[in-house]
Amino acid sequence: MSTVLSYKPLARPARPAFADSFAAHPEAVRIEDVSRIFAGAAVLDRLNLSVRGGEFVALLGASGSGKTTLLRILAGLDAPDTGQAWVPEARTVVFQEPRLVQAMKVWKNVVIGLRGAAASRTRAERALAEVGLAHRADAWPATLSGGEAQRAALARALVREPKLLLLDEPFAALDALTRMKMQRLIHDLARAHGPATLLVTHDVEEAILLADRVLVLKEGRIGFDARVPLPHPRKAGGPAFEALRERLLSELGVPPGTGD
Ligand SMILES: Nc1ncnc2c1ncn2[C@@H]1O[C@H](COP(=O)(O)OP(=O)(O)OP(=O)(O)O)[C@@H](O)[C@H]1O
Ligand SMILES: [Mg+2]
Repeated sequence: MSTVLSYKPLARPARPAFADSFAAHPEAVRIEDVSRIFAGAAVLDRLNLSVRGGEFVALLGASGSGKTTLLRILAGLDAPDTGQAWVPEARTVVFQEPRLVQAMKVWKNVVIGLRGAAASRTRAERALAEVGLAHRADAWPATLSGGEAQRAALARALVREPKLLLLDEPFAALDALTRMKMQRLIHDLARAHGPATLLVTHDVEEAILLADRVLVLKEGRIGFDARVPLPHPRKAGGPAFEALRERLLSELGVPPGTGD
C-alpha cells in the first residue's frame, strides 16, 4: 500500500491513477521533482530521490538546508508546492524531542497510534522490551531520563511496524554515551524490523557508522549520494572511513583539517 502525498493546491483530489502507478516504482520512497517554497525561496528545488525497501539512508546538510522540510513532506505533515512523492502508508517519525503525552503512562504512549485491540498492553510491553524499557511501562513520561524518553518514542514508532522510519536528529539532545547506545539500538532495530530508514543527522561519523548510503542536501537538491563501503559492525577510523568522512565534510563546506 502506498500513498500519494504531493498535490498542491491541496483541494485538488488525489487521482487513483497515481496510486496505481506506484506499482511501477517498487522503492520505499520515490520523490520526483519536489519543490517547497517559503517566502519566495525554494528550500527544496526539484529534488529527486529514491530509497529502496530496507535501505538505511543518512541525510546530512547545513542548518537550514531543508532536511526537516523534506522529512515533514515524507511524513505527510507538509505538502510540496510542485512535484510528487510516493511513500508507504505505514510510516512513522521520531523527532529530536520525544513528544510523549505527559498525561499518559509510558505504555499507553507507545500504543497511542494503534486502534482497538491492537493498542494492547502486551503489544506495548513487547515494543518497550525491544528498546530495553519494559520496566518503565507504568512510569509517567516526566519521570524518564532524556534517553529513556527517546527510547519510548522509538518503541512508539516501531510498534506500528513501519515500512518507512523517518528520524529527525533523534539523538541530538542526548549525552555522548547515551547517544552511542542509541545508535547501536537503532542499527539493531532497523536490521530486525527492516523498514527503509531516513536518518537526518548533523554528525558525519554517525552517518557513516549507521547508514548504507549517505546523502548531502545542498541548494535544495541531493548534492551528494554515496554508498558506505564498510561492513558491520563498524567503528570510526581506517582509510575508507576517513576518506568518506573527509569527502562528506568537504561537501558540507568544512575545510580540510577543521573537522577533527
Ligand atoms: N513553515 C515555514 N515557513 C517559513 N519558512 C520555513 C518553514 N519551514 C521551514 N522554513 C525555512 O526553510 C528552511 C529550511 O528549514 P529546515 O527546518 O528544513 O532546515 P534543516 O535543514 O532541517 O535545518 P536544521 O539542521 O537547523 O534543523 C529554513 O530557512 C527555514 O527557516
Ligand atoms: Mg531540521
